[in-house]
Amino acid sequence: MKYGTITLFVFTLPLLVVTNSNTPIKDPYGIDDRLEIVHLYLDQWPTGVAVSESGRIFSCFPAANDELNSNNGTNNVFQVAELTGFDTETAYPNETYNNPPGGCVNFSGPFPRTKGLSDYLLSVPTVAFDQNDVLYLLDNGRCIYNGVRLEASPGGPKLVSVDLNTDSIIRSSSSPRMSSRLNRSWVT
Ligand SMILES: *[C@@H]1O[C@H](CO)[C@@H](O)[C@H](O)[C@H]1NC(C)=O
Ligand SMILES: *[C@@H]1O[C@H](CO)[C@@H](O)[C@H](O)[C@H]1NC(C)=O
Ligand SMILES: *[C@@H]1O[C@H](CO)[C@@H](O)[C@H](O)[C@H]1NC(C)=O
Ligand SMILES: *[C@@H]1O[C@H](CO)[C@@H](O)[C@H](O)[C@H]1NC(C)=O
Repeated sequence: MKYGTITLFVFTLPLLVVTNSNTPIKDPYGIDDRLEIVHLYLDQWPTGVAVSESGRIFSCFPAANDELNSNNGTNNVFQVAELTGFDTETAYPNETYNNPPGGCVNFSGPFPRTKGLSDYLLSVPTVAFDQNDVLYLLDNGRCIYNGVRLEASPGGPKLVSVDLNTDSIIRSSSSPRMSSRLNRSWVT
């Protein structure tokens, strides 16, 4: 990256400085004028940022951390987005994969549970790249309903790898051990 940019997460303010853009906006808060504002998060709150070799930027917005990130079937909220403009985000790899049909909650048992969907994102707290520029999405399979963080159901927790060239899934994997860990430790 150019300019020796510093990464800064400003959680008390409605913005996040990640890297530089073509027309850098310098730090308006007087913290450090080497900082540049790259993206304004105006709706969903992120917990992670990952930048590809080519400069594409992705964020995750985990349902298990914030009910406003929990998909209810009509609110169209996403777990992963590509930052496609200064204050715009596009569901990634697509809207369908981010919209479990009818939302993330399964009401058909004795008590509400997060759906055990392996083909949809439920709650992604982490996005990261490997050395080959493959994007990884970690889904803990949990979401929040009525203020309660619901347990994951088998099938929901998964690690998904995405090919940036085709914007499609390379592999989605899960194991009982990983699921159980993600079920207990939902933050990362
Ligand atoms: C889902 O959330 C949206 C936005 O908060 C709300 O307008 C809508 O009524 C909710 N839908 C359901 C089915 O709860
Ligand atoms: C929803 O819950 C019912 C009853 O527990 C179960 O049979 C079904 O498989 C669950 N569906 C999903 C998508 O998790
Ligand atoms: C998560 O924990 C709950 C409660 O212990 C359990 O019923 C559920 O099956 C677990 N889910 C997974 C995916 O391990
Ligand atoms: C969305 O992405 C998923 C995972 O790559 C893929 O299976 C599905 O076909 C895509 N759907 C659309 C409508 O592009």
